Amino acid sequence: MSVNWSLPFEEKIIPSKYQSKVISPSIYKELHKIATENYKDFWASIASQLEWFKPWEKVLDDSNPPFYKWFVGGEINASYLAVDRHAKSWRKNKVAIIWEGEPAEGDKPKEVRYITYGELYREVNRVAYILKEVYGLKKGDAISLYLPMIPELPIFMLAAARLGIIFSVVFSGFSAQALADRINDAKAKLLVTADGGWRRGKIVPLKDIADKALENTSTVEKVLVVKRTNNNITMKEGRDEYLDNVYKQVPLNAYVEPERTKSEDPLFILYTSGTTGKPKGIVHDTGGYLTILRATMNWVFDIKDNDIMWTTADIGWITGHSYIVFGPLLEGATTVMYEGALDYPNPDRWASIIERYGVTILYTSPTAIRSFMKLGEDVYKSRDFSSVRLMHSVGEPINPEAFRWFFRLVGKESIPFGSTWWMTETGGIMISHLPGLYLIPLKPGTNGMPLPGIDVDVVSENSNPTKPEERGYLVIRKPWPGMPLTIWGDPDRYVKVYWSKFPGIFYPGDFAVKDSDGYFWILGRADEVIKVAGHRLGTYELESALIHHPAVAEAAVVGVPDPLKGEVPVAFVVLKVGQKANEELKKSLNEWVREQVGPIASLSSIYFVSKLPKTRSGKIMRRVVKAVITNQPVGDITTLEDEASVEEVKKAYEELK
Ligand code: WTA
Repeated sequence: MSVNWSLPFEEKIIPSKYQSKVISPSIYKELHKIATENYKDFWASIASQLEWFKPWEKVLDDSNPPFYKWFVGGEINASYLAVDRHAKSWRKNKVAIIWEGEPAEGDKPKEVRYITYGELYREVNRVAYILKEVYGLKKGDAISLYLPMIPELPIFMLAAARLGIIFSVVFSGFSAQALADRINDAKAKLLVTADGGWRRGKIVPLKDIADKALENTSTVEKVLVVKRTNNNITMKEGRDEYLDNVYKQVPLNAYVEPERTKSEDPLFILYTSGTTGKPKGIVHDTGGYLTILRATMNWVFDIKDNDIMWTTADIGWITGHSYIVFGPLLEGATTVMYEGALDYPNPDRWASIIERYGVTILYTSPTAIRSFMKLGEDVYKSRDFSSVRLMHSVGEPINPEAFRWFFRLVGKESIPFGSTWWMTETGGIMISHLPGLYLIPLKPGTNGMPLPGIDVDVVSENSNPTKPEERGYLVIRKPWPGMPLTIWGDPDRYVKVYWSKFPGIFYPGDFAVKDSDGYFWILGRADEVIKVAGHRLGTYELESALIHHPAVAEAAVVGVPDPLKGEVPVAFVVLKVGQKANEELKKSLNEWVREQVGPIASLSSIYFVSKLPKTRSGKIMRRVVKAVITNQPVGDITTLEDEASVEEVKKAYEELK
């Protein structure tokens, strides 16, 4: 299938400030080929730039594919690399984290913290002491972190990493049920949460939500609570403890020896949505993950010691793990961490943050850019963006208009601006422009080319490479450092989801095209994942929430294009006999879903139908539903049980349009 929408395949932009780094796409392709053909040696040369307690014996153990292990025999510690090394060097008094809380008076934030590497070292050691000495946790145990964007979150991640304790961060916008599912799956022994978190001036009652979640979990023995909002909460005797109180048991200069974790020891689990079934616990290793971060921090972000890097994501997602916490700290850089909404209380809050701290490297998302764009340029007229020397976006395809607008407003059309493609599973960026290495010309909306050593392609259903500008599936052919170890507790599913559509090749689940210069353009998900404002949601989670509602018999959820959020979920619902389809029920269904999954799971519309398009074996054909409402050809419907169902969907949709 050829792409029938217009993408600026031919346009080429050379950012004036990086002219000296620019090379032609064909030369880059040659360099890429050399690195990728020799990918094991190539990645070994990057990994050797890290400090290992013990060098590896084998670069890649590929004896049991797809369960690849990188740098086997090597010993390394993520917390030691991100904290100790810098705290023991001239960087001791360098700021590691600039934290800004959301509450503000006009343009003035009420709370700002500058945490130096020396201070971070002390804090991480103290928390590691708590985990080890107070709670008796050890290497291989799992803990869940359900925290707002406050410094304690990276501190707990680093403290856990120090001990080889596997941490699982649960985004603070998830509900009690979602939290309980993740705690149960990880078998977390400790939950760290806060009394509340600030979001748009309101308190999100995290502890109350956690209490509800804990009613349905059995592994959590202790709960540690960070005081953030001072709202009223209940503390369960014997289980819950304030962090402040526990700190009292910790010697001020506590030192906890970092574990000599093996390269292939799990560092963290991060849950993410897929095609079917419950969210999957993606497990990342230590040595490979740090290697991809080392590479991308240098090639993609061109990180230098005087940089101030701001990634506008939440640490609850992979972007925050890799490019707020571990990537910048691994490089001894200064990372900005902002607690709240980018446009609160003023629409230009984000711009004031850039100005206030002199952000030099900006990593943001298309949805954020489109929401800024909505207000026009005048709002930002008096803002000074001159500190920014490089920027990228992530999370969803960036439309050329949004690219052009931001490139002009913040980038003054003179600095690199790319759209980095990667995912929770890849650990780090895979396709990008590489201003820290060589820069190929920019094109509005493209992702650029794969990183050296990353063997990416676009293939058709029968796994042959597609022709230029022909749509196909994105695949990764060779193993890479940063790849998952497995799905937590479900290795078979790992094989089935990622390594079975094209045997022996990693299938990320995205549609893509490659243009005749060799640039990649990721077009969106090929499966039932919806990207709402860049957040990854599975239709399964939304549908299973809906069918648990007493009025609902069946439900199909699909993503439809949205000018601001990229995509939004809409639901087609079959009610149980005797239920009345009305506005009130719609409202209550929407509230129900938000409660079950979390506030990010807002259905943009709900349509009532009497039947859904299904195969004869009873599987809902979401593909057909989506085609009908996006005005695309419905394709092959020979397996459809009842063609009238397609008409029903069409009618319900048209009537409400
Ligand atoms: C999408 C986020 C187009 C893609 C880091 C992928 C993108 C999913 C881009 C992973 C981009 C991410 N251009 N699409 N620059 N970046 N995606 O796991 O569909 O939350 O499969 O990781 O986001 O989402 P995840």
